[in-house]
Amino acid sequence: MKKIVIVGTGYVGLVTGVCLAEIGYNIWCLDIDNDKIDKLSNGDCPFFEPELKELLYKNKNKLFFTTNYKDVFDNAEIVFICVGTPEKEDGSANLEYIYSVCDNLCESLKNNCTVVIKSTVPIGTNDLVEEYFRKNLVNDIEIKVVSNPEFLSQGSAIKDTLKAPRIIVGSDCMETNEMMYELYKPFTKEPYNIPYLSMSRRSAEMVKYASNNFLALKISFINEIANFCETINADIDDVTNGMKYDERIGKHFLRAGIGYGGSCFPKDTKALHYISKINNEEIITVRSAIEVNKNQKIKLFKKIKEDYKNLKGLKVAVLGCSFKPKTEDLRESPSIDNIKLLLEEGCRVSAYDPFVLALNNLKQTFSNQINYYNNIDECIKDVDLALIITEHHEIVEYDLNKYIKYMRKPVIYDGRNCYSLDMVDKYKINYTSIGRRKIIKF
Ligand code: UDX
Repeated sequence: MKKIVIVGTGYVGLVTGVCLAEIGYNIWCLDIDNDKIDKLSNGDCPFFEPELKELLYKNKNKLFFTTNYKDVFDNAEIVFICVGTPEKEDGSANLEYIYSVCDNLCESLKNNCTVVIKSTVPIGTNDLVEEYFRKNLVNDIEIKVVSNPEFLSQGSAIKDTLKAPRIIVGSDCMETNEMMYELYKPFTKEPYNIPYLSMSRRSAEMVKYASNNFLALKISFINEIANFCETINADIDDVTNGMKYDERIGKHFLRAGIGYGGSCFPKDTKALHYISKINNEEIITVRSAIEVNKNQKIKLFKKIKEDYKNLKGLKVAVLGCSFKPKTEDLRESPSIDNIKLLLEEGCRVSAYDPFVLALNNLKQTFSNQINYYNNIDECIKDVDLALIITEHHEIVEYDLNKYIKYMRKPVIYDGRNCYSLDMVDKYKINYTSIGRRKIIKF
């Protein structure tokens, strides 16, 4: 069996490692974060992701964790690079973590090796990395670089990997391509049956950007349609429902709301826009998607501002802090933008999230400027307004009577259309959502 090393134990790396162990491989997982590796070595998961802990436990005899690259790189045969490529000020991707792994590999590798880049990188990066190895390897060996983008979503990452719609492998070398096919072969068979597509490295890199940008565009488009529905008295739920029957449009990613957040769409839209612009082929639809999303994230705040004019002294509960349900991740979450604006206006803010870790993350930005709760009843007690930011099931299933019971006056601004209008209509609640009529009861 080939020696497989995964570098980076975030969502992408850890999920990849665990899923490869699930189909039978022994996997060495490397990270520079001692805390993470300590936790993983003790069988704990460093972040919440459904099914991950169970699969970690199930495959514990096939997974090895270390912080010492020297331990694992010298005789590695396949190395997956799954480190972050965060956004730089100008929107371009920061590749310093990728090159830092490459430096360690150059120094340590003693045998020929295939380096598989799973991190999302600008088109052409795989070529540059292969060239970098050629120039900097200490030993006289050969490295082949393969692009193998991931498409997993936080909150369903295991399912997205084990039931992936496709595996994309970009390699410009036939032999390497055959080796990668052998590696992934179990996934192409029962019970997984995942289609395997091989192509050039640049095409593979582009599939990732094109896919993420298309989904981001779809969200921004439906959000603009929702905003327009408000103007012309149409209902976005009926509109999207009517659209979904057309298979060419599809039923996914048409949920209107307060925009996309997370670690991928915001970064990948900006990165693709940046690359297209510097190549004199600006992708204007992507520029628009970015602009629409920037405004959409503060849509609830704008609606409140229209309704109240002066917000000073209002007590506001922010329900849901993470960028989407089933994760404690706050990256690019609209909760941050809205809380900042509410504080600037002199509001008193309390925030709720079912994940204590999400609240802890929020504390890093707002410390004692706001109050933190992991209980909705407590969070909305005596507040003037409730803003729904994340459609956590605890919020979706919250009894509407309780808004009436606990709030000073039950006024809800729902950024995720958690409740049907027919249902809200039965209560004495003022309710504003996205792309639907307002309900005013007092
Ligand atoms: C996304 C892609 O789905 C995944 O394929 C890629 O590998 C990484 O980026 P993720 O960021 O985890 O995954 O979450 P996703 O479920 O795609 O949602 C992203 C954002 O879009 C969230 O803020 C979500 O609330 C928002 N969204 C999604 C909508 O506003 N409407 C929708 O219909 C779908």
